[in-house]
Amino acid sequence: VAERGGWDGPLVGMVGAGQLARMTCQAAPSLGIRFRVLAADLTESAAQICGDTQVGDYREPAHLLAFAAGCDAVTFDHEHVPAAGLRALEEAGVAVRPGSAALRFTQDKLAMRHRMQELGVPCPRFAPVADLADVTGFSVRSGWPVVLKAVSGGYDGKGVWVCRTPEQAAEVLGYGIALLAEEHVAFTAELAALVARSPYGQGVAYPVVQTVQREGICREVLAPAPGLPADLAEDAQALALRIAAELGVIGLLAVELFLAGGRLLVNELAMRPHNSGHWTIEGARTSQFEQHLRAVLDMPFGSPELTAPQVVMVNLLGGDDGDLYERLHHVLAADPSIRVHLYGKRAKPGRKIGHVTALGADLADLRDRALAAASYLRWGTTQEASVPGPPLINRSPAPQEVA
Ligand SMILES: Nc1ncnc2c1ncn2[C@@H]1O[C@H](COP(=O)(O)OP(=O)(O)OP(=O)(O)O)[C@@H](O)[C@H]1O
Ligand SMILES: [Mg+2]
Repeated sequence: VAERGGWDGPLVGMVGAGQLARMTCQAAPSLGIRFRVLAADLTESAAQICGDTQVGDYREPAHLLAFAAGCDAVTFDHEHVPAAGLRALEEAGVAVRPGSAALRFTQDKLAMRHRMQELGVPCPRFAPVADLADVTGFSVRSGWPVVLKAVSGGYDGKGVWVCRTPEQAAEVLGYGIALLAEEHVAFTAELAALVARSPYGQGVAYPVVQTVQREGICREVLAPAPGLPADLAEDAQALALRIAAELGVIGLLAVELFLAGGRLLVNELAMRPHNSGHWTIEGARTSQFEQHLRAVLDMPFGSPELTAPQVVMVNLLGGDDGDLYERLHHVLAADPSIRVHLYGKRAKPGRKIGHVTALGADLADLRDRALAAASYLRWGTTQEASVPGPPLINRSPAPQEVA
């Protein structure tokens, strides 16, 4: 205790130092939790603010073991830690949360689909595919377009290809990566159900949100999902809690869902703080980041209740290389109620570099304001906000089309 200057809280280590780790780091001190990140280098988003940053390679079991020394729990801001590293940690007696058995289903979309099928959870029709004959065989039942997905390693729509013809599928097959095929779901809306589960077995469910993707990247999150019938919202929460329990998830579980023909289909699972939950920093009594920390330390959960009738979160993507700090002044002056979060990341086009949140009662007004703020930060103009937004309970355009 003396060594640590008298501060004797539990220590959580998070592997990865992106924006999720940065925001988790911001949540830790208020509960007296000490927080450590494993960063690839000191310029990473969380490394910039975390006093206990270790530099290392998450692919190296030895680096993971050194990182975990003294941690009461080790958790993750991405799903890319190889199984060998996770096993090494577990064999050394580290509290790996979530554990390798659960994490597997975020690393391997095919394993996840099979497991959901076993659990009787509705999913898009799918099949593993190795060659064009497999894809055309699959298309006989699913029709075109066929969605091809990388079995592992995809994010932000990278690793998702909507193929309208066999020629396009052939091109993707040519990349030489493991793929699965999925039916192209003509969804009414995309939803996300965010829950947390503790080792004790306590569960908590946030209000179900609508997510709006463009080019496969999440652009907006509307909390609660506007116009979603209460019974479907409850079904989505119950489904997410059931999946968390069945897979033995410890920590947060985000279940990405398609709402199609009045039915819920599971698209994807994430077992960490999730972009669809960034709104909870201001919009819920307990943020997802604090909830995740509580979960991995087996502390009682905080209330997931909304702090306003409606919350809108808009992601800030990298735009031109204008002066972000100057733009920030304008945005803060124009709208004192807007909340801005910047991740300390260089503004590469299309990269998530921050988000803005608006809280209130009038959804249209909140969307206008949040989109205007994000657009101004991105381009120095509110122009982007005036592009007609998708209707509520919308149909998002497809991700990455094959050229
Ligand atoms: N079977 C499908 N039918 C229609 N659209 C789909 C399908 N699968 C994915 N999409 C679209 O592509 C987006 C990205 O897909 P998915 O979530 O599977 O990939 P990802 O790149 O791993 O995403 P994330 O950034 O959430 O990790 C979805 O949010 C959805 O808009
Ligand atoms: Mg997704």
